Amino acid sequence: MKVTIVGAGAVGASCAEYIAIKNFASEVVIVDIKENYAEGKAMDLMQTASLNGFDTKIVGSTNDYSKTANSDIAVITSGIPRKPGMTREELIGINAGIVKTVSQSILEHSPNVIFVVVSNPMDTMTYLVHKSTNLPKNRIIGMGGALDSARFKYRLSEALECPASDVNGMVIGGHSDTGMIPLTRLAVRNSIPVSKFLSTERLNEVAEATKVGGATLTKMLGTSAWYAPGAAVSSMVQAIACDQKKMFPCSALLEGEYDLEDISIGVPCIIGKDGIEKIVAIDLSDQEKNKLQESAAAVKKTNGLLDI
Ligand code: 2OP
Repeated sequence: MKVTIVGAGAVGASCAEYIAIKNFASEVVIVDIKENYAEGKAMDLMQTASLNGFDTKIVGSTNDYSKTANSDIAVITSGIPRKPGMTREELIGINAGIVKTVSQSILEHSPNVIFVVVSNPMDTMTYLVHKSTNLPKNRIIGMGGALDSARFKYRLSEALECPASDVNGMVIGGHSDTGMIPLTRLAVRNSIPVSKFLSTERLNEVAEATKVGGATLTKMLGTSAWYAPGAAVSSMVQAIACDQKKMFPCSALLEGEYDLEDISIGVPCIIGKDGIEKIVAIDLSDQEKNKLQESAAAVKKTNGLLDI
């Protein structure tokens, strides 16, 4: 199993580290345009192999896509991260060109690759990869909901004063500070609805904190977060590589599902060897349906800025 990660920045390197430690990939190739940067990150990570007990071979490449040849999965993290006070959407001007070029360079050497798109604005970048590669829709997966759901579970565990492993919950919709939809109505603490433990007001606080989870960390760190994004991506890559049939909320191209067309946005998906193997239709409340339509309208507005 060969995985390419484009972008040796904090998210890409964290993803490479988690993939290596999980030891399901034979090779991870990290690509970056900065001279020797990916090679340095790869060497540093390989020097943890004896300590972390993995056999995965991690190599770096300065913009030489021949080293990515025959990758099974390619993760696109390249582009600039946001700074404090910026929205993800403000990155489109720079990141769209990078993502389009990178996806085409990958595809040139790996015709059967499955893409996992991380670069922001992620739903729009995922849509751009669909439009610029024309690959079957199951092979292009946007990563946002897995991260947002992890932040949702963190906030729920904080409110419930319990381990995050004791809660489950999902965030759908656009991966944006205003478009995310934490499904508080369906969240559970060990199969019991969280509404049995938390007031509506407290659940709303949890939902709002989840939506700005990325912006909160960007303010604290001076740049976008990387540990949780890297971990979220590595979990999705593992689900593909190991054919796990796991459900993640992913940015998927919709063709009528959830009453939406010609848009990539976060919905529940079954992820396995073929990428998005099924888009899962769940019954949403009228309020949730309205929020999803509003979120989709905002994503489509950003898509409209693309030159495709
Ligand atoms: C985040 O929310 C980078 O969009 C990513 O942290």
